[in-house]
Amino acid sequence: MKALVIAGGFGLEHVRAADVPTPEPQPGEVLVRVRAASLNYRDLLIAKGAYNPKLAFPRVLGSDCAGEVVALGAGASRWKVGDRVCPCFFSNWDDGPIPPDAGKGTFGSDRDGVFAEFVCVREGALVRVPDHLSYEEAATLPCAAVTAWNALVTAEVGAASSVLLQGTGGVSLFGLQCAKALGARAFITSGSDEKLSRALALGADAGTNYRTNPDWDKWARQQSGGAGVDVVLEVGGAGTLERSLRAVRTGGHVALIGVLAGGAAFNPMLVLMKAVRVQGVFVGSRAHFEALNAVLTRDTLRPVIDRAFPLAEGSAALRHMEAGAHFGKVVLTV
Ligand SMILES: NC(=O)c1ccc[n+]([C@@H]2O[C@H](COP(=O)([O-])OP(=O)(O)OC[C@H]3O[C@@H](n4cnc5c(N)ncnc54)[C@H](OP(=O)(O)O)[C@@H]3O)[C@@H](O)[C@H]2O)c1
Repeated sequence: MKALVIAGGFGLEHVRAADVPTPEPQPGEVLVRVRAASLNYRDLLIAKGAYNPKLAFPRVLGSDCAGEVVALGAGASRWKVGDRVCPCFFSNWDDGPIPPDAGKGTFGSDRDGVFAEFVCVREGALVRVPDHLSYEEAATLPCAAVTAWNALVTAEVGAASSVLLQGTGGVSLFGLQCAKALGARAFITSGSDEKLSRALALGADAGTNYRTNPDWDKWARQQSGGAGVDVVLEVGGAGTLERSLRAVRTGGHVALIGVLAGGAAFNPMLVLMKAVRVQGVFVGSRAHFEALNAVLTRDTLRPVIDRAFPLAEGSAALRHMEAGAHFGKVVLTV
């Protein structure tokens, strides 16, 4: 089968389409014919050697896809051939608290990923694709959307909440759509005025450009009546954390999700003096994914797709994502 692999070393120059053996479903597994996949910032980090320095080459990249069930391994009974499904990001986190070994065995890092024509998945680590979504749309959900959903529900976001989103990448736009679905007010930043207009059209209550308004923390406090927002989905990491802690209200919640803004010294004083809950988020469980899908279905919400590339042009898709000009998700059609 065709797949997008990294072979021979780290760097986007080592990413290419290749022929690899088609996997066969083991007992309890399902063989999925991949119809579409989507890129995450994680895929860029993996290709550059910044995520898993011990990556074994060659490795099929990718964690997120959607497709149809084409064969069942021995004993697999949860699905039937033809079902439209999405693999969960974690193969071993169905519900409840995150298992200690959740991060082991993830697609595209510890084992071959989903940027391929076929993938084998444990039958319990699949969710049904909502009827109103195309394969391309559904393929955007497993990592970014589930992460945003987990962050919001763990922070107990509801109709009385205010949420600050950073930038208009995959996690933040899902954070925006889900925060609005939960009835919250949503404020968003972006480095582009044009992207801000699109975020406002998607339902954001207000937006500011973090390049022309570096004091976006002050702006966020003003938007929330001076006290600060209830919740920040922190995708910048150390480089934005101090401003996020200034933007959040006393007793508020910062969901630590990403590392887009690079490293910086971090002063913990604000965390304790404002009694902020700082909560790490690592994608989510199958139960999170199912709850997310129920809300997407209820509100017929559709993911925002920036652009689709054929699988064979996956390396160009990664470069497109690296350039940061995208709004929402970058998709591969298979
Ligand atoms: N913890 C987890 O389980 C988990 C899951 C998914 C993702 N992540 C992490 O979360 C982060 C976001 O992932 P993603 O897939 O949404 O990435 P993405 O789609 O590549 O998001 C890129 C966008 O982020 C915005 N951005 C970049 N630098 C920024 C900064 N300094 N301040 C504010 N916004 C900035 C830009 O938006 P504008 O162009 O609008 O400025 C950029 O286009 C990544 O670090 C990723 O590794 C973590």
